Amino acid sequence: MKNLRKVVFPAAGLGTRFLPVTKSTPKEMLPIVDKPLIQYGVEEALKSGFKDIIIVTGKGKNAIEDYFDYSYELEDVLSKRQDKEILEEIRRMPKEVDVAYIRQKNPLGLGHAIMCAENLICEEPFGVILADDIIDAKIPVLKQLAEVAKKMNAPVIALMEVSKEMVKKYGIVKGKKINNRLWEIEDMVEKPDISSAPSNLAIIGRYILPSKIFYYLKKVKPGKNGEIQLTDALKMYAKNNKIYGYLFEGKRYDGGDKLGYLEANIRFALKRKELKKGLLKILSQVIENEHK
Ligand code: UTP
Repeated sequence: MKNLRKVVFPAAGLGTRFLPVTKSTPKEMLPIVDKPLIQYGVEEALKSGFKDIIIVTGKGKNAIEDYFDYSYELEDVLSKRQDKEILEEIRRMPKEVDVAYIRQKNPLGLGHAIMCAENLICEEPFGVILADDIIDAKIPVLKQLAEVAKKMNAPVIALMEVSKEMVKKYGIVKGKKINNRLWEIEDMVEKPDISSAPSNLAIIGRYILPSKIFYYLKKVKPGKNGEIQLTDALKMYAKNNKIYGYLFEGKRYDGGDKLGYLEANIRFALKRKELKKGLLKILSQVIENEHK
């Protein structure tokens, strides 16, 4: 697969697991320490060589557009205060990225959100990042996938091993093992029981997809709440075409889930020199108090 430069961020979901805050704040704008979830994803895309960022937004998501734009009033205040470091930081994103926005008028599922970007994708293969899956990795995960996609000349999905008890929370793949990290995918099952799960390999929110996926997305019958699921289109695609799953290297946090989000905040804060000592002290005091 060549010409990998576009990446779609579906960000139009309702974020119901994070209500009430998501009533007026997009889930993608919730902070991990001091940067919103979506910025981690955008930085990953840029480091992976994907320069064209497409964000699918919806009702109440204007904060995302403001975030990737210049804020002249704020910059004016900071520059008068000679606050150079933070001034540079808030200018960094609008300087580095040009974002195209497209609106999903109704939150009709992940597959539908991706379909909304069809006119901006044209005939090229493209990446997809779900910003609420935050992945801490030496080599950005989208880059890991892009390398496999180029080598195999086929689409690739990020996979993660999960415990048997957790298979019911994920899309799980059935496939032929090629090597320790690579599977040729034959089928996928959405949230199976332990007894019917074909493996413990879960689909995580990073994909390299072909433009042909739009053809299959249009064939998907809407499921619960009229939603069009990406997994259904991928299943159809896998029946007639080669598609691979790659067990990525890195640690993933589920930022769409409260516990996963809290863990990501702690882990990322502990990576910051200025916060580590203070946070460890607070954590040990909290643990001590809880055991009293
Ligand atoms: P989720 O399944 O996490 O749904 O979507 P959600 O609405 O964001 O959150 P909950 O489950 O209600 O708490 C996975 C990704 O797909 C996007 C979301 O924004 C998220 O990045 N999405 C989902 C859309 O863009 N549109 C949709 O209709 C659904």
